[in-house]
Amino acid sequence: MKTISIANSKGGVGKTSISSNIAYELARRGYLTLMIDLDPQCDLSKVYSPDKKVRPTIFNVLSLSCPIVDACQEVADNLYLIPGSQDLIHFDFHNSEHILSQCLEDETLVEVDFVIIDHQPTVSEATLTGFVASDEVLVVTDSEVFSLSNLGGLIDNLQIIQETMNSKLHVIGIVANKIDSRRNTDEFKNQMVQLFLKGKPRSEIIKEYDLTESAFDRWVKQSQATSSFREADNRSSEENELIQLRKENQRLKMENDILKQAALILGRK
Ligand SMILES: Nc1ncnc2c1ncn2[C@@H]1O[C@H](COP(=O)(O)OP(=O)(O)OP(=O)(O)O)[C@@H](O)[C@H]1O
Ligand SMILES: [Mg+2]
Repeated sequence: MKTISIANSKGGVGKTSISSNIAYELARRGYLTLMIDLDPQCDLSKVYSPDKKVRPTIFNVLSLSCPIVDACQEVADNLYLIPGSQDLIHFDFHNSEHILSQCLEDETLVEVDFVIIDHQPTVSEATLTGFVASDEVLVVTDSEVFSLSNLGGLIDNLQIIQETMNSKLHVIGIVANKIDSRRNTDEFKNQMVQLFLKGKPRSEIIKEYDLTESAFDRWVKQSQATSSFREADNRSSEENELIQLRKENQRLKMENDILKQAALILGRK
């Protein structure tokens, strides 16, 4: 059995979507897969088990009021879910960091190939329990600058857990989700310039965010000159005059062509 936590303390980055997709794909490939909804928002459970029937949840499992196997609902071929519960908020995890790990050692789960744990977007004791029970952590992030810069804190925390509570814990990778193909928005450019103005070296920003030198230098120049990244707002008066003259020249040429054509037509009559 391999247990993988899907996590980030930032909300809305796609943890539940990715948990659900990975679990579904593993099951489709023939691996017996168990999803655990460790988020009191219960979003993963809403995807697979939307009916309101009273069933055992992860809360009952962790409270040891129900054998783990009784909480495993079959939701597709090879795919099982232990539903989440809002009651997790009230669960007293004091000295219980290993509780999920111990539950997963139950012999009834011996055939399970993968356990996928969907985490809540905050650092909590439930999250800690999930990390202590995991072999791997897949970190999910979006492409916002501040999400990326917060990743260091999460990785540091995981390292502490690895050193103190779960020596097998390993970060399997980071998924950059929800990539905006139009990432060079004004907001993004402004964030890059602000990082630079706050002292982050130009070369580091360019490398870290995979920018071209010329684009980065242009954004800094535009920001300092006019606070606008629109080309039109950053032209000198000479450049604007030149553009006007070109337009005027174009218009005169067109008028000239029309007059020539008119003269030709009148000449034929
Ligand atoms: N790759 C993607 N492209 C576009 N939208 C996405 C993508 N991944 C997730 N979403 C959407 O983003 C929203 C948040 O996704 P999701 O619920 O999976 O995030 P989450 O990290 O689990 O959120 P929370 O922190 O609240 O648990 C959902 O509306 C989802 O459909
Ligand atoms: Mg979620």
